[in-house]
Amino acid sequence: MKKWSFAEYGGPDVLQLIDAEEPHAGPGQVRIAVRAAGVNPVDWRVREGQILGAHPVELPAGVGLDAAGTVDEVGEGVQGIEVGDHVFGEGSSTYAEYAVLSAWALMPEGLTFEEAAGYPSVMETALRVIREVEVRPGETLLVSGASGGVGSAVLQIARAQGITVIGTAGAANQDYLRSLGAVATTYGEGWVDRVRRLGPVDAALDLAGSGVISELVELTGDPDKVLSIADLGAPALGVRFSGVAGSVPDALAEASDLIARGMLRIPVEKVYPLTEAPAAHVDSQAGHSLGRRVVVVRAAAS
Ligand SMILES: NC(=O)c1ccc[n+]([C@@H]2O[C@H](COP(=O)([O-])OP(=O)(O)OC[C@H]3O[C@@H](n4cnc5c(N)ncnc54)[C@H](OP(=O)(O)O)[C@@H]3O)[C@@H](O)[C@H]2O)c1
Repeated sequence: MKKWSFAEYGGPDVLQLIDAEEPHAGPGQVRIAVRAAGVNPVDWRVREGQILGAHPVELPAGVGLDAAGTVDEVGEGVQGIEVGDHVFGEGSSTYAEYAVLSAWALMPEGLTFEEAAGYPSVMETALRVIREVEVRPGETLLVSGASGGVGSAVLQIARAQGITVIGTAGAANQDYLRSLGAVATTYGEGWVDRVRRLGPVDAALDLAGSGVISELVELTGDPDKVLSIADLGAPALGVRFSGVAGSVPDALAEASDLIARGMLRIPVEKVYPLTEAPAAHVDSQAGHSLGRRVVVVRAAAS
């Protein structure tokens, strides 16, 4: 099968599309014929060798955590899923024709494979950070970096929970934030005053790692009401960094439920054919986004 792999850490040019042995589902796993793989910043961070503690890899390594596709092997002890089912979930080496998933759920009605591949990791992250920042219904949450994958999920989950959101994004994404129910403003020069004019903030999330931790503490008035997923310098400023994943099955169930109720939809900004996965990394590394980027492994007719 075809699979993206890297044998050394580095830029997008270390990625190689290789012929590899097919993986097989072990106990508690399923294998899918991958239709689409979600692109996450962690994919290129791992490729660069940035965060080896949280995502240990052995070289050569495959690429990708998220995928959607058709189950074609069911591992020992797995129940409630059959060969031929359409699922979305999280595993490893998902930029490939076949991948093994360790967490999955049936794809919600009405989603394409490309859309479904965009949900698993960002849903897990969004649910985790909303829980950890301890924001309650009726309160106001400030989200720095609100238009990307995680931000898109946070905004909609928060709205479903009765939380008011103020989101920052680039000028081009202001209408997008409003369409997700947030009060929108731009980041950059003067942003703290713009947020202040929008009203008091109870809690804040740093999703962009753009060096704004002190300002988020200033706006909330309490470092315990701020959480970052992208700024490793946050703890030095008394602010928690959240980096431990692990509740994906719940996240997929929550995503399915919200999608079924018409309360969640994360758009796919751009799709890339399997052969162009390195271009997806280049675009992701540029740091701007509206929703998700997805690598299409098998097109609809195949
Ligand atoms: N620790 C964890 O558990 C965890 C989990 C998932 C992701 N992450 C990290 O969280 C970050 C976001 O992930 P993602 O998947 O949402 O990425 P993404 O889809 O690429 O989104 C990046 C976002 O950053 C915004 N942005 C860029 N410059 C900004 C600035 N100066 N101020 C405010 N916002 C700015 C972009 O807004 P515009 O496009 O509007 O400019 C875009 O919304 C990444 O660094 C990723 O590695 C961490």
